[in-house]
Amino acid sequence: MAGKRCLVTGASSGIGLATAIRLAELGAEVTIVARDAGRASRALALVQGVAKAAGAPEAAYELADLSLMVEVRRLAEKVGARGRLDVLVNCAGIFMTRRVLTAEGLETQFAVNHLAAFTLTNALLPSLEATKDGRVVTVSSASHRQGRINWKNPGYGLLYFGLRAYGQSKLANVLFTGELARRLGPGSAVTAFAFDPGLVDTDMGNKAGFSPSSLVWSLRRKRGTAPELPAASIADLVSRAELRGRSGLYWKGDAELEPSPRALDAAAARRLWELSEALVAAAVGRKT
Ligand SMILES: NC(=O)c1ccc[n+]([C@@H]2O[C@H](COP(=O)([O-])OP(=O)(O)OC[C@H]3O[C@@H](n4cnc5c(N)ncnc54)[C@H](OP(=O)(O)O)[C@@H]3O)[C@@H](O)[C@H]2O)c1
Repeated sequence: MAGKRCLVTGASSGIGLATAIRLAELGAEVTIVARDAGRASRALALVQGVAKAAGAPEAAYELADLSLMVEVRRLAEKVGARGRLDVLVNCAGIFMTRRVLTAEGLETQFAVNHLAAFTLTNALLPSLEATKDGRVVTVSSASHRQGRINWKNPGYGLLYFGLRAYGQSKLANVLFTGELARRLGPGSAVTAFAFDPGLVDTDMGNKAGFSPSSLVWSLRRKRGTAPELPAASIADLVSRAELRGRSGLYWKGDAELEPSPRALDAAAARRLWELSEALVAAAVGRKT
């Protein structure tokens, strides 16, 4: 990965942090994205330590609250102004038990888990196309298999169930990757993958405060792998020469996997793309 410029979101902890460390270890120039300056500095120190030992360029961080599309766009402008980007890993994600709307009026899980990846990737396409072999990995989940897009209101109403909203957002990750692959077309300089990390021992399910779900997660995570395992798979996805041009792959471990039939529905993917464009435009245009 020497000579490659990589941007990793959700890199202040868990899988994103382990991915940033792995990419730096392989010699890449890594920029991490985080929402909190303290956590960003702590993560950067870890990435930087590895980068130095590997003789990789100095790592850096950018701050952005990815639940806000205005901030996602600002981040993209800043990163895009630097020119070429070889790798984008959309790893930021959140699990919420309560329906919380952002200041832009979006349901938070849909905003962070799907709309941020949708907006950031699209805004950075010119930078990714400026390389001969740009790669995008959007981290989804096996939960996409239970997911359904609530077309009438992806933000849901009063009947909010956290796992349902999470499944929707992770299904959106796979549909987005499929539609992006179709829009890029064969021969594109950019290859887009959806990635399933499996069950991983991270804090994700414990961040929304104490609830029955957080209790379940505390037990469940113990059966998960270390974040270094999916991080190594992501590094493989963005570096293996033979995967170039294989846009639309859903990947787990070291192999392609069949996503759910709903995730392969091309009409739904196109509809979601249009809905996402409209939601982001409304969010950004909204006076808060
Ligand atoms: N763990 C699993 O078993 C599992 C399974 C399948 C899929 N995944 C997916 O893997 C990805 C990473 O999750 P993880 O398990 O590594 O959990 P994690 O440690 O909580 O990582 C999530 C990352 O996203 C960041 N993030 C959350 N909200 C954000 C916001 N508004 N703006 C900017 N950054 C934000 C978090 O920042 P903070 O550090 O500030 O919280 C953190 O760096 C997620 O997309 C998740 O859906 C995880």
